[in-house]
Amino acid sequence: MVDVVFLCIGCVVVLCVIQLLRLITADCDLVLQWASKFGKSPKRLRGKVVWVTGASSGIGESLVYELASVGCRLVLSARREEELNRVKKQCLTCGPLQDNDIMVVPLDMVKQHEHADAVKKVLQHFKQIDILVNNAGRSQRAEWVKTSVVVDREMLETNVLGPLSLTKAVLPDMIARRDGHIVVMSSVAGKVGGLLPGSYTGTKYALHGWFERLRIEQYSDNINVTMVCPGPVYSNLLAIAMTEEKGKVVGGEMDAGEKRMATSRCASLTAVAIANQLDEVWISFHPVLAYTYVYQYLPSIARSQACKRGIFQFRKSREGQ
Ligand SMILES: NC(=O)c1ccc[n+]([C@@H]2O[C@H](COP(=O)([O-])OP(=O)(O)OC[C@H]3O[C@@H](n4cnc5c(N)ncnc54)[C@H](OP(=O)(O)O)[C@@H]3O)[C@@H](O)[C@H]2O)c1
Repeated sequence: MVDVVFLCIGCVVVLCVIQLLRLITADCDLVLQWASKFGKSPKRLRGKVVWVTGASSGIGESLVYELASVGCRLVLSARREEELNRVKKQCLTCGPLQDNDIMVVPLDMVKQHEHADAVKKVLQHFKQIDILVNNAGRSQRAEWVKTSVVVDREMLETNVLGPLSLTKAVLPDMIARRDGHIVVMSSVAGKVGGLLPGSYTGTKYALHGWFERLRIEQYSDNINVTMVCPGPVYSNLLAIAMTEEKGKVVGGEMDAGEKRMATSRCASLTAVAIANQLDEVWISFHPVLAYTYVYQYLPSIARSQACKRGIFQFRKSREGQ
């Protein structure tokens, strides 16, 4: 009997050590890490019609290359049509797709009145939309107290109301077919309050509120929701990141010395999350990943340390995401 107890304790200790090692070496949460090794491959998405917003650069661009390589039919959206055409050309070189399998649909997330027409166009061409990836978004570098409410509103229009409007336009087709998947590009800033400027953080938190409810309401219609929360990723995000003032952008490029993930890695993990219909994933290097775990499970300790030690205080540099 004593031997069995020791054996059980030994097994638990070994399992804990393995989990700890996996966590220390991870660049994503443990469920996604597991899915990327033992779960369904993104190859199962072959033939699906996937609409990716913000496909003209950064994470969205890398994601469409990933999806093109497994044979997803694609709808590429963003405001810059010439960039979308460049991305389309590249997609045609990295997979089995033909010209007709990729549709370029220029779209401004803020122009909600154009969303229904865009959906109509896509449905006329592909007959259905299987997956919508709400990726388009803008970041921010600003101090809370100096930020104009006009900027707060503009961030909400782009990062929250735009995705809501497009999702509402796409859902009726998915619900009628009782099959659909909504993917939302949030951020660890949507899980860890105070990591990044107020308007950006607010928009990412808001996405969780709105889309968590959608998940519950449409579960019986077989509509899945995946929230993707990346930490720092190299992209063109600073070029159009908002500041405290309306119309003023941060501009420039990210510092190559910063510890950030490549968009290709973020995109391949996102594709795994989509293929496995995971409900929420965190994609980041440490220490941001570790901090996200601490904030999620020990929020009071995380908050008090952040305040007392001045971690994440507003910095004049252009760090963060
Ligand atoms: N990079 C990071 O560290 C990081 C971390 C966590 C989360 N994220 C999130 O990931 C998403 C993609 O960002 P990224 O890092 O790949 O930045 P990015 O390279 O700047 O890409 C942003 C994309 O959104 C599009 N976009 C911006 N405003 C738009 C609008 N009003 N209407 C339509 N499209 C619009 C841009 O295209 P056009 O300019 O052509 O319209 C571009 O394709 C964002 O939601 C961002 O919040 C990024």
